[in-house]
Amino acid sequence: MLKIIEKAKIEHNLTKSEIIVLLSDNSINDILYKAADSVRKEFVGDEVHLRGLIEFSNICKCSCKYCGLRKDNSKLERYRLSKEEIINFAKKASKYGYKTVVLQSGEDAYFSAEIIENIIKEIKKFDLAVTLSMGEKSFQEYKIYKNAGADRYLIRIETTDKNLYEQMHPNMSFENRLRCLDDLKKLNYEVGSGCLVGLPNQSIDSLADDILFFKKIDADMIGIGPFIPNPNTPLSEARGGSFELALKVMSITRLLMPTINIPATTAMETLNPNGRIIALQSGANVVMPNVTEGDYRRKYEIYPGKICVGDTPNQCWNCIGAKIESIGRTISNNYGFHKK
Ligand code: SAM
Ligand code: SF4
Ligand code: FES
Repeated sequence: MLKIIEKAKIEHNLTKSEIIVLLSDNSINDILYKAADSVRKEFVGDEVHLRGLIEFSNICKCSCKYCGLRKDNSKLERYRLSKEEIINFAKKASKYGYKTVVLQSGEDAYFSAEIIENIIKEIKKFDLAVTLSMGEKSFQEYKIYKNAGADRYLIRIETTDKNLYEQMHPNMSFENRLRCLDDLKKLNYEVGSGCLVGLPNQSIDSLADDILFFKKIDADMIGIGPFIPNPNTPLSEARGGSFELALKVMSITRLLMPTINIPATTAMETLNPNGRIIALQSGANVVMPNVTEGDYRRKYEIYPGKICVGDTPNQCWNCIGAKIESIGRTISNNYGFHKK
């Protein structure tokens, strides 16, 4: 077991069966986390990149079975920020010191390529890197955003098990998800992907495939989060993912992809009050604090127990800054692009 971790630390390569061995044995977890932390330190250093998250619409035309924003959830109070509000939140984020904003939403058809193009152009005036996370779009739409100045795009594969993917995503296809990732690469985006850990019927075998998939597509960023059941979805009775297993998938990803950006995800902190700090000490080097203001945070209820719903952007900036400094790490003052 220790030999496998040593090999990963030096060669940044593992076979599928080696990954399965690591994922299946919990006696080595602390050694695995430490190995990932040392690879993180060697390749991407002690800086933590903060990305300010703007949750600009919770309206979605999709029905992903795990997600509280799915269109069939009639209990959710829907909202959509105006163009001015989005630009204003980005402007404030840059004043706090963020170097990147992430525009995230459900798949909301109201936001045409033209509207998004316009918003990106305005936000670029604040000297911010722009990351988008708005789901599946056409090549042409991705191209319009890129030409407007978007730098990165996040779209998780969620699971590489095609059968499970199609069970979880009614009326969506695994091939189209792959097409999106491929188009984004072709358009020279920094591409972020990732998976959910703990979906019903997800096997350890398929999590190993997920990790190898991240490497195969040469992703620039990988976000891994535990699946947290939402009572207003068809998966309300599911068990959900564990913090430890999500952390292990993240640590192994760091060992195999030493230079990429890896966020300590909000879902991890939802399951463990110190989750983001533990993740930062187990391979992660990015945090995405919320910069959305007011009641919108509460309404962007992907899963229950989401952190920071009652806090302001100022509180989050101070809170996460203090936590990062308390573990001897520093907040980066650059854009934090992936250096290969
Ligand atoms: N609509 C865009 C998309 O799906 O890519 C962006 C917004 S979506 C809410 C962002 C991410 O939330 C998804 O990629 C998914 O992994 C995660 N998510 C959704 N429901 C979740 C749940 N119940 N537990 C944990 N993460 C969840
Ligand atoms: Fe919509 Fe994204 Fe949620 Fe799926 S995961 S329902 S696409 S917001
Ligand atoms: Fe939001 Fe701690 S990051 S309150």
